[in-house]
Amino acid sequence: MTATNATGTGIPPLHVRDLTVRFAGLTALDAISLTVAPGTVHAVIGPNGAGKSTCFNVLSGVYRATAGTVHLGDQELTGLPPHRIAGLGVARIFQNLALPPRTTVADSLLLGRHRLTRAGFLAAGLRLPAAVREEHRHRERVREIAEFVGIADQLSTPTGALPYGQQKLAELARALCMEPRVLLLDEPVAGMTADERRRTAAVVAGVRDSLGISIVLVEHDMGVVMRLADEVTVLDFGRRIAGGPPDRVQNDPAVIQAYLGAPAEGSAPAKSSVPAKGSAPAEGEARA
Ligand SMILES: Nc1ncnc2c1ncn2[C@@H]1O[C@H](COP(=O)(O)OP(=O)(O)OP(=O)(O)O)[C@@H](O)[C@H]1O
Ligand SMILES: [Mg+2]
Repeated sequence: MTATNATGTGIPPLHVRDLTVRFAGLTALDAISLTVAPGTVHAVIGPNGAGKSTCFNVLSGVYRATAGTVHLGDQELTGLPPHRIAGLGVARIFQNLALPPRTTVADSLLLGRHRLTRAGFLAAGLRLPAAVREEHRHRERVREIAEFVGIADQLSTPTGALPYGQQKLAELARALCMEPRVLLLDEPVAGMTADERRRTAAVVAGVRDSLGISIVLVEHDMGVVMRLADEVTVLDFGRRIAGGPPDRVQNDPAVIQAYLGAPAEGSAPAKSSVPAKGSAPAEGEARA
């Protein structure tokens, strides 16, 4: 697959500033700020209920911010509907599988290219030559992306017939088919076997390193987070409690405390449950 955006050139930074989201008396996000540098993996972690998915839902336009802003470069995303945000190159994969089960992998990926399709449905339906040429070009790109992700031999299989891990990879491939500038990954390895986790992590690293796409990663698997992330933001009860490179964050007393629960006043700090960078993720380690 060609590296159209290698090292993030041409991809603007994603700025989240003072983002606040309230639901009827509950502050799910409390003035969160973070910047996703072009072509990097920025992980957002934190215990259950910390506000990670809420943050994702604002970035993709599903939830509205109560206060604060999100910008991709100079373009404000706050308040735009999901399809406009997707149209600006922010692609999201959902935590739950979202591919039509009876459609082949090839056609599912082709659907991901819809926003890039020039010929209208009528021209395509009438098999006009320009539309046929365009579809051919899109199918070639779909094959390249499927090869990049490692599912090219499954292109004619219905997505519902694929093993779970490969379905998740097909979803990642469909998001890449949108030629995104920013990819939002919501627990991409949840429910996967150790082998599938390793493979998916390698693909995500490849998306950053070869394609230069910026990635925001919400993930409970700390092994994957520590291996992949260039930068980590830690949320707890809607607040940003720490941020920085993974090795610094995993030794931060506030992070250790948030994951283990507050120790009694004056007691010795508890041992970290945040594994070292490069450590193998344990099976079923999700849900810290
Ligand atoms: N639509 C909503 N209406 C009301 N409260 C909500 C809504 N969405 C989220 N919340 C609340 O906001 C808080 C943050 O939830 P969120 O889903 O963002 O947490 P999370 O960090 O993604 O947790 P998990 O790791 O369990 O997925 C929780 O208290 C949750 O109950
Ligand atoms: Mg969540």
